Amino acid sequence: MAAELSPIDKAKFAAAKSAVSYIEDGMRVGMGTGSTAAWMVRLLGERIREEGLKITGVPTSSRTADLARQVGINVIGLDEAKWLDLTIDGADEFDDELNLIKGGGGALLQEKIVATASDQMIVIADAAKSVKALGAFPLPVEVVPFGWQTTRALIEEMLVSLDVLGRNTTLRLNGSQPYVTDEGNYIVDLHLNRIGSPRQLGLVLNQIPGVVENGLFIDICDIVIIGGGDGKIEIRDINAGKVTHDQIDFLEDENIFKDLD
Ligand code: 5RP
Repeated sequence: MAAELSPIDKAKFAAAKSAVSYIEDGMRVGMGTGSTAAWMVRLLGERIREEGLKITGVPTSSRTADLARQVGINVIGLDEAKWLDLTIDGADEFDDELNLIKGGGGALLQEKIVATASDQMIVIADAAKSVKALGAFPLPVEVVPFGWQTTRALIEEMLVSLDVLGRNTTLRLNGSQPYVTDEGNYIVDLHLNRIGSPRQLGLVLNQIPGVVENGLFIDICDIVIIGGGDGKIEIRDINAGKVTHDQIDFLEDENIFKDLD
């Protein structure tokens, strides 16, 4: 099965496998959303089954909650957990300061709340997510449905005075209808191409009435683990100011690949 995975899936798997090794018995763990985070959830389920770890997991979406329950993780809500030891999540982009764009999967609001309520956030990704400047990936902004067109117009007006290279915005759709988040909101994607000052943009966006949250994660992520299709991983730790390398052996994980058949 491992041989049938695409290089990109192997890269995501390798990053997830490395990240799961940071989880210790008794931890309360935030679980992200998306295809990379899904590998982490499966691998955590495997560790719980094989090692008998006592872990409580706080999911960042209904999709992640469903998967976590399927693989045997004890799922609780953030209000029950109150504070988390560690959150592991994917990202759409990260820069050299480990600032992120998230929300490609539409779960940015819960993801930001959960990551902020954690002692540590680890992002898992393939190398394609690494950028010098954020913004090639459209920045998701969650808005309340009431008056969303006015909110979008205000966002566009605000962008005129900010350091960005593009100013198009689109309402995210699910078929012909607006995409609706787990909180019942809409998402407006901002096609900015390059964001000169992510911190300023994030602050200004959240001042607009109707904006619930934006997908810029500034000073939240501690470690990024970048997986390669050959099992090589790079670990960038912003607090320790160091980059280390390791190797994941896919053969050790035949069980989890069988689970997916
Ligand atoms: C979901 C997210 C995801 O982490 C992000 O979109 C990356 O997803 P994937 O791992 O599938 O590339 O922010 O809201």
